[in-house]
Parts: sequence; C-alpha cells; structure tokens
Amino acid sequence: MSIPIIQQNKSDIKITRIGHSRLNNIDMENVGFGKVFSDHMFICHYENGEWQTPEIVPYGKIPLSPSFSAIHYGQAIFEGMKAYRGDNDEVLLFRPEENWKRMNHSASRLSMPEIPKSLFIDGLKALIDLDKAWIPQNDKGQLYIRPHMFATDEFIGVKASESYTFVIFTCPVSFYYKNPVKLLATKEYTRAAIGGMGNAKAAGNYAASLFPDKLAKNQGYDNVLWLDARLHQYIEECGTMNVFFVIDDVVVTPLPTGTILGGVTRDSVIKLLKDSYNTLGLNGIEIRRVSIYEIQDAYMQGTLREAFGTGTAATIAPIAKIGFGGKDMNLPEERPVSSWLYKQLYGIQTGKIYDPYEWVIML
Ligand code: COI
Repeated sequence: MSIPIIQQNKSDIKITRIGHSRLNNIDMENVGFGKVFSDHMFICHYENGEWQTPEIVPYGKIPLSPSFSAIHYGQAIFEGMKAYRGDNDEVLLFRPEENWKRMNHSASRLSMPEIPKSLFIDGLKALIDLDKAWIPQNDKGQLYIRPHMFATDEFIGVKASESYTFVIFTCPVSFYYKNPVKLLATKEYTRAAIGGMGNAKAAGNYAASLFPDKLAKNQGYDNVLWLDARLHQYIEECGTMNVFFVIDDVVVTPLPTGTILGGVTRDSVIKLLKDSYNTLGLNGIEIRRVSIYEIQDAYMQGTLREAFGTGTAATIAPIAKIGFGGKDMNLPEERPVSSWLYKQLYGIQTGKIYDPYEWVIML
C-alpha cells in the first residue's frame, strides 16, 4: 500500500497527495460530463468566525452529520469554471476572479461568510497544478472546476449556520449538451421572483428546476426556458445557461432584474458582440426585456434567425427548438452568430486567438 505524501507549501495549504493516481484507469475519450472526478480536492472549514488552514487531500467522501443545516435549510452555493489546455500544454484559466466575485455575491445573499480572494484563487491554482494531468488533451475537453460551500452547524432551527465547509473538486469533461438544445417555455412554473435569490448560484435554484425540467423532458425537450414570475411572459434564462436571440440583425438578451444568474460566459459574449457585431453583419446587441410573444412574432415573420445559450458547462449552445403554448418554433440549422462566438470564445480560452480583454491567465 502506498503512503500519501504530506507537504506544507508556501501558500500554507497542507497537501496530502494520493498514493496512486486513478488517471490511468480513466478512458479520457469518453468522460462525458460530471461523472469522473480528478485525484484531489481542496477543502477549508470556517469555524469560530475564521477560515481554518486549507488542505488538499485525495478526492473522497466528506463526513456528514444528518443535522448539518445545509441539508435542512439549504445554505449551499457553488460555482462552475474550467481550466483549458493550450497548444503548448500550458494550463489556462478563464476570468477566475469573476467566479470568486459571484461566489461571494451568492454567499452574501444566503448569509454565508465571504471567501477571501487568496483562499479561492490560490486554492484552485494549487489544486489544478496538482491535477493538471487530468485536463483532457487535443481539444477533447476541459477540466471543469466546482468550488462550493455548505453550512455545517449541527442544529435544528432556522438561522444562518456559524460553521461552513468550502470545497473545490475538478472533473475532466466534454460537452454538456451533445446536440442543439430543445427548450420548453412554460407559464406554469417559475424559477425566481424579484427579491428572491435567482441571481445567486444557490443549490436551491437548481432543486426548484428539477420537477418542471422533468415535465419538459417527458415531452421531448431538454430543459425549461424560464419566464418571469409576475407576468409569465418575459424570458429569463434556462437554468443551465443564459439565453440570446438573433432577431433580424440584432442580438437580444434578457435584462437582468435580480432573477437571472449573471453568467461569466454571458458577460464575455456581450463584450465580444459589442466589439464585433459589424463584422458579423449585425446592427448591435440589446440587453432588454424580451417577451416570449416577441420571439413567437419574430418566428412567424421569419426574422428569428438564431437562439443560443451561454454558460461555463454549456459553452455556446445552439438552440434547435423552443416550444410554447402547444406550438414549436424550429430554428434554422445555419447558425453564423453562435458558431462565430463559439470559435472566438474557445479560441481565446485556449490561447489560440489573441485575448485583448486579458481574460485568460496562465497557471
Ligand atoms: C455551469 O455552467 O458551470 C453550471 O454550473 C451549470 C450547470 C448546469 C452545470
């Protein structure tokens, strides 16, 4: 039996290495999404008002008490980010500070402690450095990074926990959606209301989506396209991704009103489009309320040219079909805007295309 090597590194992360890497047993050509986990995880506890010494340990189970408050009252938040392998084998991260900021936005909305920048960024860098061999080669995928935090007070009673655990693990992934996505817009269920926590990356938002998503899947769609909770007509997001529409020669994306997740990919796509809409033969990008009826009208008039989703997992995901009110809108198979965005963004993320925004950092 091999003995784990324990080392204390300069950023004071206590590292316990796995004895034997599991990497050789993994078929990296067929990792799918979210099923295969790399060798190590980063873990840090928050107790007595302070973050304790962070550790990197072999990926594995975390002891769980049935009275952990996260399980009962839902104080659980997460992030999604990716590490990319460049052409010269360098490891590249895309806008990691944005994920750190959003994690703390979610933490504050759920009354959880903020995570210091150094804990988040140094922790994930040290973890990825240790498991960089898990980043798929030859553009076959990326290393998905899942920072998350949950409440660990053993207490029954509704109040913010006083103790928490912050964990980062990683997994090699390929596409989240293998095919263009089919969405169902419904008036029956809503994801988030104004004043709620729709713009936090909270586990509860995803739990609330599962039953309506199941109903959509039973009808042959992949996910729900959420509408606003008051008038049931303004498009919000898809839960797994933000959404964009190309109507005539303008790109339109919903205005965030506190109910939509502020996607890092969404923000990057808006910046890319603002700088390049001319070269794509477009007339601009509009961030505004967009009603499902406007989308239906554009479809009827033949001006709905494209729809696509954006997200770390979803990347730039073309939308093939949108169902609403018992009718389907089948979108064109030619998708010049989303194809360009995919190539441009992925090119920047992997260092193949010049990054004028300084979004990419090398590990
Ligand atoms: C991500 O895009 O990283 C997410 O967290 C969405 C989830 C559907 C995987």
